[in-house]
Amino acid sequence: MLPARDRLLALPHVALGALPTPIDDAPRLRDAIGMGARLVIKRDDALPFGFGGNKVRKLGLIAAQALANGVDTLVTCGGVQSNHCRATAAAAARLGMACHIVANGTPPERLTGNALLDALLGAQVHYVADRTARTPAMDALADRLRAEGRKPLIVPLGASTPLGALGLALGVGEIVRQGIVPDVIVHATSSGGTQAGLLAGCALFGLRTEVVGISADDPVDDIGRVVTAIGGGIEELLGLATGALGVGDRFIADASYVGDGYGIPSDASREAQRLAARTEALFTDHWYTAKALAGLIGHARAGRFRDGQVVMFWHTGGQVGLFA
Ligand SMILES: Cc1ncc(COP(=O)(O)O)c(C=O)c1O
Repeated sequence: MLPARDRLLALPHVALGALPTPIDDAPRLRDAIGMGARLVIKRDDALPFGFGGNKVRKLGLIAAQALANGVDTLVTCGGVQSNHCRATAAAAARLGMACHIVANGTPPERLTGNALLDALLGAQVHYVADRTARTPAMDALADRLRAEGRKPLIVPLGASTPLGALGLALGVGEIVRQGIVPDVIVHATSSGGTQAGLLAGCALFGLRTEVVGISADDPVDDIGRVVTAIGGGIEELLGLATGALGVGDRFIADASYVGDGYGIPSDASREAQRLAARTEALFTDHWYTAKALAGLIGHARAGRFRDGQVVMFWHTGGQVGLFA
């Protein structure tokens, strides 16, 4: 396993934000939840680049690939309030590249939250009717840009490619260096890259940590298929045999906190959001992190964590969503 870990650490990487992010103990939140385990928060929301979040880790590797290939334009997609699109627009600005965003939804009457930041960062936004129209629109846009003499790179949804996901595997190496080896990591999951990267990272750094993804939108089986596929891509990229990292085997997710749908607050996410703010001054959003925290609270109350364990809430960002 060691050569693969070395290969991971040797991947070209653009430092978009100062690392490591802090790991904070959250004793008041733990007491409010009533859990006996130690609760720590990995503060990727505090990553000091472009309002931070998990996408910045993924984009550090993708940016290096883009620079090496002479790319001058990043093309990506997401919802109108996508954190990923905002982080990609920020990366493009920092790298001196253009950015085109294919956003499903209607143009907002007033720009708020991530949509406001996309505009400030100079990204061009192209609106499409729904999620299924995004990939064809990105392909058509990239063709048009190439015909105009540009060198575009399509960054797929959530930057959840094997290379992007490895940003989170590097994050696992980071927590090991910070001296924290959690028994359980709980985080928000959607396009699968974060979870695949964390699982791959745990395998590469020899952690037996359980990685529990709380779904923001999709059913568990759908996410499992994507996470397993990204895990396979990571193995290929690092020159490992298929299945060597066991990403699909160790996949655990829970879609029972989605509530009425993606981004729609639920009673549980409202409680989680309030508790985190009032006990630890920690901000979470109803698309991802408040629902993930609601999942952690639900699992704690169901007795899934043992006293003496270390439970890490991997805060993936999304705080800009509070101003959407
Ligand atoms: C704040 C936040 N948390 C979690 C996620 C989920 O990460 P992933 O798409 O890698 O599963 C996203 C993006 O989709 C996000 O913006």
